[in-house]
Amino acid sequence: MGFPVERPRRLRRTPALRRLVAETRLHPAGLVLPLFVLEGADEPTPIASMPGVVQHSRASLRAAAREAVELGLGGVMLFGIPATRDASGSGASDPDGILNVGVADLRDEVGAELVVMADLCLDEFTDHGHCGVLDADGWVDNDATLVRYAEMAMALADAGVDVVGTSGMMDGQVGVVRSALDEVGAQHVSVLAYAAKYASAAYGPFREAVDSQLTGDRRAYQQDAANRRESMREVRLDIEEGADLVMVKPASLYLDILRETADSVDVPVAAYQVSGEYAMVEAAAERGWIDRDRMVVESITSIHRAGAGIVLTYWAAEVARWISEGRISEGKA
Ligand code: PBG
Repeated sequence: MGFPVERPRRLRRTPALRRLVAETRLHPAGLVLPLFVLEGADEPTPIASMPGVVQHSRASLRAAAREAVELGLGGVMLFGIPATRDASGSGASDPDGILNVGVADLRDEVGAELVVMADLCLDEFTDHGHCGVLDADGWVDNDATLVRYAEMAMALADAGVDVVGTSGMMDGQVGVVRSALDEVGAQHVSVLAYAAKYASAAYGPFREAVDSQLTGDRRAYQQDAANRRESMREVRLDIEEGADLVMVKPASLYLDILRETADSVDVPVAAYQVSGEYAMVEAAAERGWIDRDRMVVESITSIHRAGAGIVLTYWAAEVARWISEGRISEGKA
């Protein structure tokens, strides 16, 4: 009988060998922690569908950012939850609006030690919950929304943001935001384009997290899960308009899009492991149906392997702690 000449198993024998030959490694610098700040909150408020994630008060937001610095995270991505909303989402561009105030708090707390990112979108601030302003017939008005995004970009720059995450999926948003930033002398502020962003059921828990007022869905502006080529078009347009980084979202359900994006661009590529991806793992783990810690590491590793140098994940701080404790390289998580 013929024994095998090639024995790939040899390199899998011990944790030390597996660590040596790993093609993908988790590092805190590649992880970005999304954070929520709730206007008027005195203490952090739990989010039921995202166990372990909270809506921060301004004070607890600072503490979370400080911890992110200590853990060596790549950055934080801030979302604001306002106390009042209106049709144009005016709180988004108000210097005293919760997102801008939160960004200023973060800047003050971490200085240059951490990359401060903010979501640039109107959905948290509109009373109808859409990512843009509506026309007379109730459709999201693309170009009227761009004007609001420009105002929001300028306010965020003023507050001291490093990176704005354009997540609204309006045509031309990256170009408009880039021009607005340049106009106010904020050439240094980067644009992280949510380039390929799908209309996904996996954003469900996020709606609770930001107390979304949306009824219906975002299928008239976010992408259809059926399409792949369309993402390549979105990515190309965003880069032509000046995106400094591009993102694919959600992550795990769209690893094919992520790989294709990573292979076709020469800017950094990020992926967002969204609220539903988080909640599914937490829920199954709570029932004892899966090994939570291993699932967390495997999911983030897969997203990196598929081409994302940067992963936005609600587990960022916890995983960074595991990395520093050596738990992951020893195969214990
Ligand atoms: C838009 C935005 C959303 C998320 C990030 N930015 C919601 C949406 O597009 O419906 C979702 C993130 C998550 O689900 O974790 N402001």
